[in-house]
Amino acid sequence: MPWLRLSVMRTTLPEPAMRSLAILLLVAGFATAADKVLAPYAKPTNIAHRGASADAPEHTIAAYKLALEYGADYVEPDLQMTKDGVLVCLHDTTLDRTTNVKVVFPKRGVTKGERTTYPVSEFTLEEIQKLDAGSWKDAKFKGEKVPTFQEMIDTVKGKAGIIPETKAPEVYGKLGLDMEKAVMDILEKNKLDAPGADAKTPVIIQSFSAESLKKLKKAKCKLPLAYLFMAGGSTKDELKAMKEYADGIAPNKAAILKRPELVKDAHDLGLSVTVWTFRSGQTDKFESVKDEMRHFLEELKVDAVFTDNPDQFPKK
Ligand code: G3P
Ligand code: CA
Repeated sequence: MPWLRLSVMRTTLPEPAMRSLAILLLVAGFATAADKVLAPYAKPTNIAHRGASADAPEHTIAAYKLALEYGADYVEPDLQMTKDGVLVCLHDTTLDRTTNVKVVFPKRGVTKGERTTYPVSEFTLEEIQKLDAGSWKDAKFKGEKVPTFQEMIDTVKGKAGIIPETKAPEVYGKLGLDMEKAVMDILEKNKLDAPGADAKTPVIIQSFSAESLKKLKKAKCKLPLAYLFMAGGSTKDELKAMKEYADGIAPNKAAILKRPELVKDAHDLGLSVTVWTFRSGQTDKFESVKDEMRHFLEELKVDAVFTDNPDQFPKK
């Protein structure tokens, strides 16, 4: 059953009493569709996309700490794997854009045609830890490192939820690295591998790869799984197929705007809806990122938003 938005009462009533009251209100018809959000969420949810990435370099401990300061409900690490099989937090499969790898390891690029790149999978953790992942954003962040997933967990656990994304798992699979197993092992080690294992740190795993989510399900992963996709519209039949391997969908904003009924169709199937990515400076017709998030949450009824600006999340 969907939870209710009763944040004021939540602060004054014990949990069992609040649950009973929620059920009573629902039965009595006081709750409207606008009050409902779908599990695993308990309220409209603020997800810090790559940390507080508008104000600090994405996927650094500084960005994750700032997201916590801003009150994010969840913090997002995108995951890649080092040559020696360690999960690190980085959006790209290469180190080019967000580190000084070209300066530190000028001869280690991989050239294909006219392009030279520096794949994460070509470098050991020890080598990656020598890189500066902060200066590209601003000199004041000089010295920020590429964090391991474990370091990210150490920073966020007990303070917010974590929503790791398995990025390009097929790339790592071809190299003999099993990203899904590595993710499950580290979550188990940190006692975060089941819903409710740590009340302060719920975990959702997300991926653009249906195969990755299917693999997690097959391996008996108990955590909620969210399937990421882009605009293109998803028919009811496609949503039903997603339901086989996901507990929620995570479309981009364009997918929702193209077919707003997508939200209701997903909810009818019991799929939560998490939308990406809300960032200041890219707010379409809206004056602010706050207004845009409010529209998606309150008018279009999505359950959660990924945002570079978690400090701008609209509060009632
Ligand atoms: O995972 C949600 C959103 O982050 C998907 O896009 O490319 O920023 O990982 P990307
Ligand atoms: Ca992501």
